[in-house]
Amino acid sequence: MMDKKLAIFGGKKTISEGIIKKWPPVDQTDIEYVLNSLKGDIHSFGPNCKEFEKEFAQWNGNKYAITTNSGTAALHMGIAGCDLSCGDEVIVPAYSWSSSATCILHHNCIPIFVDIDFKTMNIDVNKIEEKITERTRAIIVVHLHGLPVEMDRILEIAKKYNLKVIEDACQAHGAKYKGKKVGNFGDCSAFSFNQNKCLCSGEGGMFVTDNEEIYEKAKMLWSFGETRRPFEDRDYHAYALGWMYRNNDLTAAFGRAQLKKLDWYIEVQKKNAKVLTKILKEIEGLILPYVPENCEHNWYNYTIRLDMDFFGIKKDIRKFRDYVLKAIQAEGVKCGIWQSFILPAMTVFLAKNAYGKGCPWSCPYYGKNINYVPEEYPVAQKHCDTHFGMTEPLRAPNDEKVAELVGISIKKVIDDIKEKGPEKWVNKVEEVLK
Ligand SMILES: Cc1ncc(COP(=O)(O)O)c(C=O)c1O
Repeated sequence: MMDKKLAIFGGKKTISEGIIKKWPPVDQTDIEYVLNSLKGDIHSFGPNCKEFEKEFAQWNGNKYAITTNSGTAALHMGIAGCDLSCGDEVIVPAYSWSSSATCILHHNCIPIFVDIDFKTMNIDVNKIEEKITERTRAIIVVHLHGLPVEMDRILEIAKKYNLKVIEDACQAHGAKYKGKKVGNFGDCSAFSFNQNKCLCSGEGGMFVTDNEEIYEKAKMLWSFGETRRPFEDRDYHAYALGWMYRNNDLTAAFGRAQLKKLDWYIEVQKKNAKVLTKILKEIEGLILPYVPENCEHNWYNYTIRLDMDFFGIKKDIRKFRDYVLKAIQAEGVKCGIWQSFILPAMTVFLAKNAYGKGCPWSCPYYGKNINYVPEEYPVAQKHCDTHFGMTEPLRAPNDEKVAELVGISIKKVIDDIKEKGPEKWVNKVEEVLK
């Protein structure tokens, strides 16, 4: 019989140490690829980089791919590739990773935030048009946590206002909208391969596009403003302002080995998410991820919101969420919050803390005075305050048994809150945390 007493109150934890396997799984293929790279002659942009680009482009169905040292670099390349410039406004969701929006500042453009849709957690497509001005040049869509954005509507708006579309697919490897993989809808897209991502190569990213002109422009930014690649007959001439966003051979070798397993990883995530959903959907008080019929989620991050109305929590909702999270973690579930702040509440935007002297907002090319007001994004704030999520427990090699244990742990905590009553439960947690 399972111990009903929560681990946070001294009971036995549901998932003992070592049950949840670490991410990513590394096997002989990874070791061979990385060792072969190490034994090779070129450790910067080498043969594995070239092959990784080819293989990823093929896997995702893109014409061009450029391997980068981060997803953020690939996003910045998207801004440059789309020919955006000083003072151009770019629409971006109010809730995402910081660099979904700071990549806009990197190019002296102006981020314009749009609130999210509570159900999908993605940009609210119905609130985009009201933010479009004569200065708007592009939309960055973020397929958050692996759920594709409603791309038909995005492309319709982009066409109507002549806007470029950049897909931030950093979390969305293999996620599909209407049967097609993300990274194939916008003018160009960015993927990340950092530690937590569905494809992890340590750090790294991939810029993809089908448009030759965008590819050429992005390529210049990627490597010192040069037009030729490291393995081509370089003329060592900076034709434009460039960064150093190139990947290295060791990382690309690891990425190539992991790419071989990516389809399997995504299948495992889908299976595990299904098992978890089956358990959690019976629990009142939880708001589970919503997947529209035309989307295939990759389950990069399984994100749950607490229904504060159900629990009757009117104030200190973050505190309640944090305590619930602590109790679930104490049961042995590796989970956490993904963001503490919505983007417009981050100091970089609030204090206009970018290039100094208020630049790019103060730039004469912009000529407008905008201020970011976090209260204008209540849905993103509500999501931020009430969510928690997980990546590792649902990832390969963890199987459906682990997913089941996660569900059992969460149920155990929520049942205890219901039994004691939320107020008494919070007081009890406070006591043990003292
Ligand atoms: C949605 C999103 N965009 C961009 C990034 C940036 O990727 P990277 O860390 O590879 O620069 C991340 C991850 O950190 C992300 O989750």
